[in-house]
Amino acid sequence: MADNTGSLSRVKLHKNGPEFSSLIWGSMRSEEQFTSAAELADFLRFLLDQGITTLDTANTYGSPHPYTVEEFLGDALRQTGLRDRFEIVTKCGIQRVSPHRTENRIRHFDFTEAEIRRSVDRSLNKLGIDYADVILLHRPDYLMDPTEAGGTLDALIAEGKTRYVGVSNFSPSRYHLLASKLNAPIVTNQVEFSPIHLDPIANGVFDTAMIEGHVPMIWSPIGGGRLMTGDDPYVFKVRAVLSEIAARNGLAGPAEAAIAFVARHPAKGIPIIGSGKHERLTAAIEAVNKPLDRQDWYEVVTATSPMLEL
Ligand SMILES: NC(=O)c1ccc[n+]([C@@H]2O[C@H](COP(=O)([O-])OP(=O)(O)OC[C@H]3O[C@@H](n4cnc5c(N)ncnc54)[C@H](OP(=O)(O)O)[C@@H]3O)[C@@H](O)[C@H]2O)c1
Repeated sequence: MADNTGSLSRVKLHKNGPEFSSLIWGSMRSEEQFTSAAELADFLRFLLDQGITTLDTANTYGSPHPYTVEEFLGDALRQTGLRDRFEIVTKCGIQRVSPHRTENRIRHFDFTEAEIRRSVDRSLNKLGIDYADVILLHRPDYLMDPTEAGGTLDALIAEGKTRYVGVSNFSPSRYHLLASKLNAPIVTNQVEFSPIHLDPIANGVFDTAMIEGHVPMIWSPIGGGRLMTGDDPYVFKVRAVLSEIAARNGLAGPAEAAIAFVARHPAKGIPIIGSGKHERLTAAIEAVNKPLDRQDWYEVVTATSPMLEL
């Protein structure tokens, strides 16, 4: 296996947290991208070759029906025999309607101890791993009892089921609510951020990350592909600006300019790339190593918010 890991740096998520690669691969679309676990296993080896060691997944991912990706990923991981070379992040708490969860009448969220434990046990089993590197609470459960959720996460660490815990899509107040009842550090908040989704730069999420000393994980840095394929005037305009910036900076194209945009914010969020294509991952590595300069960055923001009033 070629060793060119030097091209991607490592990032410590929190002073008492794990170290990740500075690009993460997300498995959400994997069943549409790979025809077999063997093909996905080859892709996982390719990721390691590139220095991408951190994998993101969730109990709920699956296509056409939710709750199947972890099994697919676990099968591929087993085929590589390289679990110890990866950091594996999975999530719990989203309840979706699926033939695999006939008890769910509607989509909802559940951070009770019973559900967190059931979900984590299922995830470890499907992924074929003894422990996760990080377990995240996936989306806010507005009925969360913070003492119950915090106590459960601490217990999962004590039991060796996960090394670290974190949250996803949490507002600053929700983050602080959980943190007040948790002994372990919240090592990340995984949030959406891209040139067409600027919320965390203005709603306190990135400020909180910097104050509290954790590194965010960034989902859909190119808008889940919409930034590249969307044809509404708003997306068209942002894509045109990103294309010009890419040309000026020697980046492959607007998708890469979007990644370089995301990487520029001082919260130092780590982009999770959802592509299943080798060439898009290698171009993303180049992009994350070439964050935009201040004026290019503001040009992107201005394309969506001309008065910079977010
Ligand atoms: N915490 C949460 O609530 C949450 C929510 C959503 C996602 N996530 C995580 O974040 C990860 C990444 O999300 P994402 O997949 O939406 O990220 P993304 O990287 O913004 O989008 C990936 C999609 O864009 C397409 N794409 C990439 N480059 C393209 C290009 N140049 N032209 C056209 N299409 C292009 C990819 O297709 P190809 O495969 O053909 O390249 C893929 O379908 C997920 O896998 C998941 O792990 C977390």
